[in-house]
Amino acid sequence: MNILQINASARSEGANSTRVANSVVAQLQSANPSAMLKLRDLAVTAHPVLDETALGALFTPAEKRTPEQAARVALDDALIAEVQAADAIVLGVPMYNFGVPVQLKNWIDAIARNGVTFSYTATGPKGLLTGKKVYVALARGGRYRGTDADSQVPYLKTVLGFLGMTDVHFIYAEGLNMGPEAAQQGFAEAEADLAAAFA
Ligand SMILES: Cc1cc2nc3c(=O)[nH]c(=O)nc-3n(C[C@H](O)[C@H](O)[C@H](O)COP(=O)(O)O)c2cc1C
Repeated sequence: MNILQINASARSEGANSTRVANSVVAQLQSANPSAMLKLRDLAVTAHPVLDETALGALFTPAEKRTPEQAARVALDDALIAEVQAADAIVLGVPMYNFGVPVQLKNWIDAIARNGVTFSYTATGPKGLLTGKKVYVALARGGRYRGTDADSQVPYLKTVLGFLGMTDVHFIYAEGLNMGPEAAQQGFAEAEADLAAAFA
């Protein structure tokens, strides 16, 4: 089993989402002691934004790319190869300003590639990253589970599903900035979600 852990916090140290993601990985490893872990911390190795230069590189046929364009596409290729090789993917995702961190958006923009990770067919889009289990470790200062203010979960369900990843478990650590007791409760709720995901 190959586990891919993506830490999307802007913090490389002390991140709450990483703490919860680490718990998920520990659970996966205890269930699969020979599992291989690939860790990508997007705070340590930032992935570049999908800008005009990147789009120009992606839409230039491979044989016509400049060395700079080839190098830019290769950065995305590496992320795609990691996700293709993974059987289980663990995403550590803080809430920043009601959305996902730009670090995670950059990762998603890198792995979503027409003809590689999804395709359009006569009957509609088809995700090509199938057969994977995904665990999303959410960390939030407030509490939004099940409310309209939670834009993260519907977005992640949609984009992961579009890419073929439909077996997705969400683990919520909420209320982390609402005082020590609320934070403790938030982490306890995340542990309960984790236990339910592995029940
Ligand atoms: C820039 C910034 C924006 C934030 N925006 C929100 C928000 O919109 N809603 C919320 O509940 N918490 C928000 N928070 C609190 C974080 O979600 C919370 O501290 C979380 O534990 C951060 O996760 P991390 O430690 O993994 O980075 C924000 C924190 C920061 C630093």
